[in-house]
Amino acid sequence: MSVREIFESMEYGPAPESAADALAWIVDQGSRLGCFIDGAFTDPGTTFETRNPATGEVLAEITQATQSDIDAAVAAARAAQPGWEALGGHGRARTLYAIARLLQKHARLFAVLETLDNGKPIRESRDIDIPLAQRHFYYHAGQAELMEETLPGYVALGVCGQIVPWNFPLLMLSWKIAPALAMGNTVVLKPAEWTSLTALLFADICRQAGVPKGVVNIVTGDGDVGEMIVGSDVDKIAFTGSTAVGRRIREATAGTGKALTLELGGKSPYIVFDDADIDSAIEGLVDAIWFNQGQVCCAGSRLLLQEGIAEDVTARLKARMEKLRIGNPLDKCIDVGAMVDPAQVARVTGMLEGAEGDVFTAGDLPGHGAYMRPTLISGLAPSDRLMQEEIFGPVLVSTTFRTPDEAVALANNTRYGLAASVWTENVNLALDVAPKLAAGVVWVNATNLFDAAAPFGGLRESGFGREGGPEGLMAYARPGGEAPALPPRHPEAEPGGPEMPIDRTAKLYIGGKQARPDGGYSRPVHGADGGLIGHMSLASRKDVRNAVEAAQAASAWAGVTAHLRAQVIYFIAENLSARADEFAARLDAMSGTKDGASEVEAAIARLFTYAAWADKYDGAVRSVPIRGTALATRRPVGLIGALCPDEAPLLGLVSVMAPAIAMGNRIVLVASETAPLIATDLFQVLDTSDVPGGVVNILTGSHAELAPTLASHMALDAVWSFSAAPVSEVIERAAAGNLKRTWVNHGKGHDWSKPQSRTFLAEATETRTTWIPWGE
Ligand code: NAI
Repeated sequence: MSVREIFESMEYGPAPESAADALAWIVDQGSRLGCFIDGAFTDPGTTFETRNPATGEVLAEITQATQSDIDAAVAAARAAQPGWEALGGHGRARTLYAIARLLQKHARLFAVLETLDNGKPIRESRDIDIPLAQRHFYYHAGQAELMEETLPGYVALGVCGQIVPWNFPLLMLSWKIAPALAMGNTVVLKPAEWTSLTALLFADICRQAGVPKGVVNIVTGDGDVGEMIVGSDVDKIAFTGSTAVGRRIREATAGTGKALTLELGGKSPYIVFDDADIDSAIEGLVDAIWFNQGQVCCAGSRLLLQEGIAEDVTARLKARMEKLRIGNPLDKCIDVGAMVDPAQVARVTGMLEGAEGDVFTAGDLPGHGAYMRPTLISGLAPSDRLMQEEIFGPVLVSTTFRTPDEAVALANNTRYGLAASVWTENVNLALDVAPKLAAGVVWVNATNLFDAAAPFGGLRESGFGREGGPEGLMAYARPGGEAPALPPRHPEAEPGGPEMPIDRTAKLYIGGKQARPDGGYSRPVHGADGGLIGHMSLASRKDVRNAVEAAQAASAWAGVTAHLRAQVIYFIAENLSARADEFAARLDAMSGTKDGASEVEAAIARLFTYAAWADKYDGAVRSVPIRGTALATRRPVGLIGALCPDEAPLLGLVSVMAPAIAMGNRIVLVASETAPLIATDLFQVLDTSDVPGGVVNILTGSHAELAPTLASHMALDAVWSFSAAPVSEVIERAAAGNLKRTWVNHGKGHDWSKPQSRTFLAEATETRTTWIPWGE
């Protein structure tokens, strides 16, 4: 065909990228690759084949790591960690910067290797995966450089085990390794078994960049190797992958004290209002669901169309789908490449069997290879299986809505909460709807925007923790200093001292009212001198359920202005202050000391601290390299269950309650088990302080009995424990059910003399990143 004819017909001509250099790199490695441990490649052991999914050709043999490989990698990382941290922020920054430069220098090699191994179009690996990976190392070189200034007193966690999936192999590796190294950790990372090659090329780059041996270790293999890492002597596990495996890892790490972040699946809504720029919204959809063949955790896979435009949008979308080019991923003109593996094609195809609704597919498939046609399934009911389950393939499902409220309700009708897109030309509507969406990331008139400065991560069953931005650093650093030892619980004083003049049984505090325990049981509480000072109610599962229901009903608290929340907390302080002597006397009677007055004073000060924070811990604007901006705002976690400490029965309770409610959460507190009556005295203070019923609920009873009920309650979003009872493991294990956030003490104490606001406020909030058009 002549050039003139091509111009006339606009016929597409292939423009393939050469695979020669990438294949030569594989041959240079001997085509059989070992693991990268302690700065060197091991000899290949038992191997498995990694194939190009577009052709089925074997690319290389990859080693299935053994337990001794994992042990060696963890030992190397452990040995290297102190030296790496001691290098200081500047020293680490220089190394991360060198990695970024080398990623840039070898960008083409990485892009081609990624496309060969994964099947994604070269346009994507060249323009998105690899540049974003570089950006991550540049950004985190900066975070390392500034660490001493921005995070004074913070230290590394130690050795991090990191497990990544196959959909963005090098990018997910960068998201994990860059912040870990920046904060002074060393890593043992496992790429997914289908896509190990760029991780091994990265290991090669680390040697060139002068990364000290043992700082980065790459072990290859399947889920069994992942399990070995989870079970190894590491300080933290960071995982990205399926919700099922994430849940298993939550259970496996329960009670071990290992820190954990999980970035899991999604079923992200893509909402198009009738006043949207339809052409842009349709181009956005191509990116939302056919980017990387839909194998994207935050893919806009659920299309919600306003009824009046549904027919028009669907018709235009189908026309656009007809034009998508499916084929050789190395061809620069290709829109849709190969799926990662024939097994993934089979999985997705299997999910579509028996699909209801109007199924439309488009495009011509190449003769062989793991390809799938872009698919649209419209007219589904919101409850349909395909509207609820993550498909992880090029399949868009759609339904319609009438009003903005209905759009929000449908969007949030999912157990996931990773991302969402909103399309409308009406700025009022966009900015009204965006914050109402239960998602960690929201794009306004855009989709699939990512940057190292913008935190990414989910709510609900999409996991916890953030990657990117200063928030992401919290997953790899902690305040320095050792936690104080947990003081032993006071043995119960021998009864026999002076009796109280009147028998008093303190009730529970549920929904702003005093309530008798459902089981009707109570037990006596004795002071330090053995005298009976009252009776405590023993809460049961039923009382936990009632308290959670009351907290659910108080959902308006999240929408109350921060100023008003501060006012309520100041008011609690004021009312506590008016009764300070009475509270001090009660504390003295319980402890047998004269420290009561100072504990009450400290509790009042703590309330002031969090009243002050209520309208100041609000987030930031992040500088992202697009013509727009990203707002990283804090939202309350939701419903928190918390077991209070024994060692500071009033100050501890207040230190837990105040940051939670200051940030707009509702809380179910279980009072100190040994000194519960100070909490029940607080009921009246709360009653007179304008705390809406249900925002704070207080139970008394056995921590060991109540902890599993709190942790397995599906309506609670987080459970915290400062209890002296050994409940950390049971909480972390039971929390796997709805993947609620946990913050437990693992038998360590807590220094209640300081507010430690940064830690408490971070635990009480989730960051939401909203990308908005912005002219600057
Ligand atoms: P997966 O969750 O099994 O694999 C992700 C990584 O975890 C891989 O490196 C794998 O080797 C490792 N792994 C597997 N089992 C493990 C275990 N028991 N302990 C520790 N590590 C383990 O995901 P898979 O099977 O590759 O894909 C299945 C489905 O999961 C996909 O179709 C998709 O729906 C979802 N998925 C979601 C991802 C996301 O980013 N949200 C990424 C990958 C998969």
